[in-house]
Amino acid sequence: MKVLFVNGSPRGRFSVTLQSCLYLEKCFPAHSFRHLNAAAGLGGFEKDMAPAAEAFGWAELVVFAYPVYSFLVPSQLHRFLELMRERDISLKDKYATQLTTSKHFFDVTAHRFLEENLHDLGARVIRGLSADMEDLLTEQGRKELTQFFRYAVFCAENAVWEHLEAPAAAPERAPYVSTLEAVKKLEGFDTVIVGDLREGDESLRALIKDFSAAFPYRTRFVNLADFPFKGGCLGCLNCATAGKCVYHDGFDQLLREKIHSADAIVYAFTLSGHSMGSRFKMYDDRQFCNGHRTVAEGKPFAYLVNGDLKGEENLRTVLKARAGVGHSFLAGFANDADTIRDVSLRLAWALEQGYTPPRSFYGVGGMKIFRDLVWLMRGMMREDHLYYKAHGLYDFPQRRWPRMLGMQVLGALLRSRRIRRLIGDRMNEGMLAPYKKILNEGIKPQ
Ligand SMILES: Cc1cc2nc3c(=O)[nH]c(=O)nc-3n(C[C@H](O)[C@H](O)[C@H](O)COP(=O)(O)O)c2cc1C
Repeated sequence: MKVLFVNGSPRGRFSVTLQSCLYLEKCFPAHSFRHLNAAAGLGGFEKDMAPAAEAFGWAELVVFAYPVYSFLVPSQLHRFLELMRERDISLKDKYATQLTTSKHFFDVTAHRFLEENLHDLGARVIRGLSADMEDLLTEQGRKELTQFFRYAVFCAENAVWEHLEAPAAAPERAPYVSTLEAVKKLEGFDTVIVGDLREGDESLRALIKDFSAAFPYRTRFVNLADFPFKGGCLGCLNCATAGKCVYHDGFDQLLREKIHSADAIVYAFTLSGHSMGSRFKMYDDRQFCNGHRTVAEGKPFAYLVNGDLKGEENLRTVLKARAGVGHSFLAGFANDADTIRDVSLRLAWALEQGYTPPRSFYGVGGMKIFRDLVWLMRGMMREDHLYYKAHGLYDFPQRRWPRMLGMQVLGALLRSRRIRRLIGDRMNEGMLAPYKKILNEGIKPQ
């Protein structure tokens, strides 16, 4: 079988993910393999997609091999997918799958995003493999990798693919037209709107204008479309070791002085290709200069989305999870007059009240993955380590000895049916005792 690896790591030949592809080549010499350097060679594809079209034409099985970056794919691969759409490169009836390495932090949303895009490009999607970045170093990991490859070949040879529920085709929407007049603004809070507003995108411009008009506090606007990005995150980890990004394009300052300094952050983008677009993704990936530190913790967020998010379950999950991991209140998604009003009221209230709800599964689960990673790599990720230590994020091993001892004793007692009968409802009462204590303390009505 003719197998094409689309390499989506900006690290090029230093890519960890690439090593799994090379391993497969050695394991299965009966197949023919080729590589397309979609991320590291992006500059060339911006000028000419013909070599990509030729390679896709050759392939019988296409394997997108990339690292998970910030809930999705690296901005470079994101851009490559945009180029495929822009230049009408189709994967019609091609078998396509994916192979990622990561720490499993939101690998599921990355896979779903790529599946949605492959589906749009006409491919027959085969479920991919999400490996930990160290899996290839273990026998089990190598076994899972070769099994996955056999599975993908089996699917391609036997015309078996995932009949994905088509992500609802975005219905035609009338452009949003501004209807609101700005009223006198209140002082007291600094709210920044960070958008990817391109020339001619009047609908997004109107959304931003109306949100600023509806919102009671003054807002300022940072346009990512105008920012002179030198490129997407290269995954070089210079920021972790030397504390500085290798690019000198002023992004660190922009982030710290213009965005993270604000009391509330509103993101604005036009929906395309099931996401916020590759430029926004570049902004997200470049925030890796903050390592795994939740530097905007407690600041309420909102999104102005030019488009219909209804069918975009995966993107909504990504946006909610971003707020959840960052421990911020998400005031919602606004895309018309009604939602602008709701989001603006919620955001203003959260700002005034300092409202930060506790983390949900997204945040709690995500932070535990980060905690383990930072602990293991603390020698290198020094800033992260100091931050995690200072913020009590190393909540392991649990040293709540009295509670653990109590559970041992209780567990031993409850193994006896006689004692269980004797205790009866007293166990429930015991569990509630600390809560009753709170309820019986003098509570001041608010
Ligand atoms: C900018 C950036 C963002 C990342 N985001 C994630 C992420 O969201 N989830 C995750 O599990 N790992 C994340 N990682 C870790 C990479 O996925 C992991 O190191 C991968 O194995 C790198 O593969 P590569 O060498 O092929 O690029 C991120 C790494 C970088 C540099």
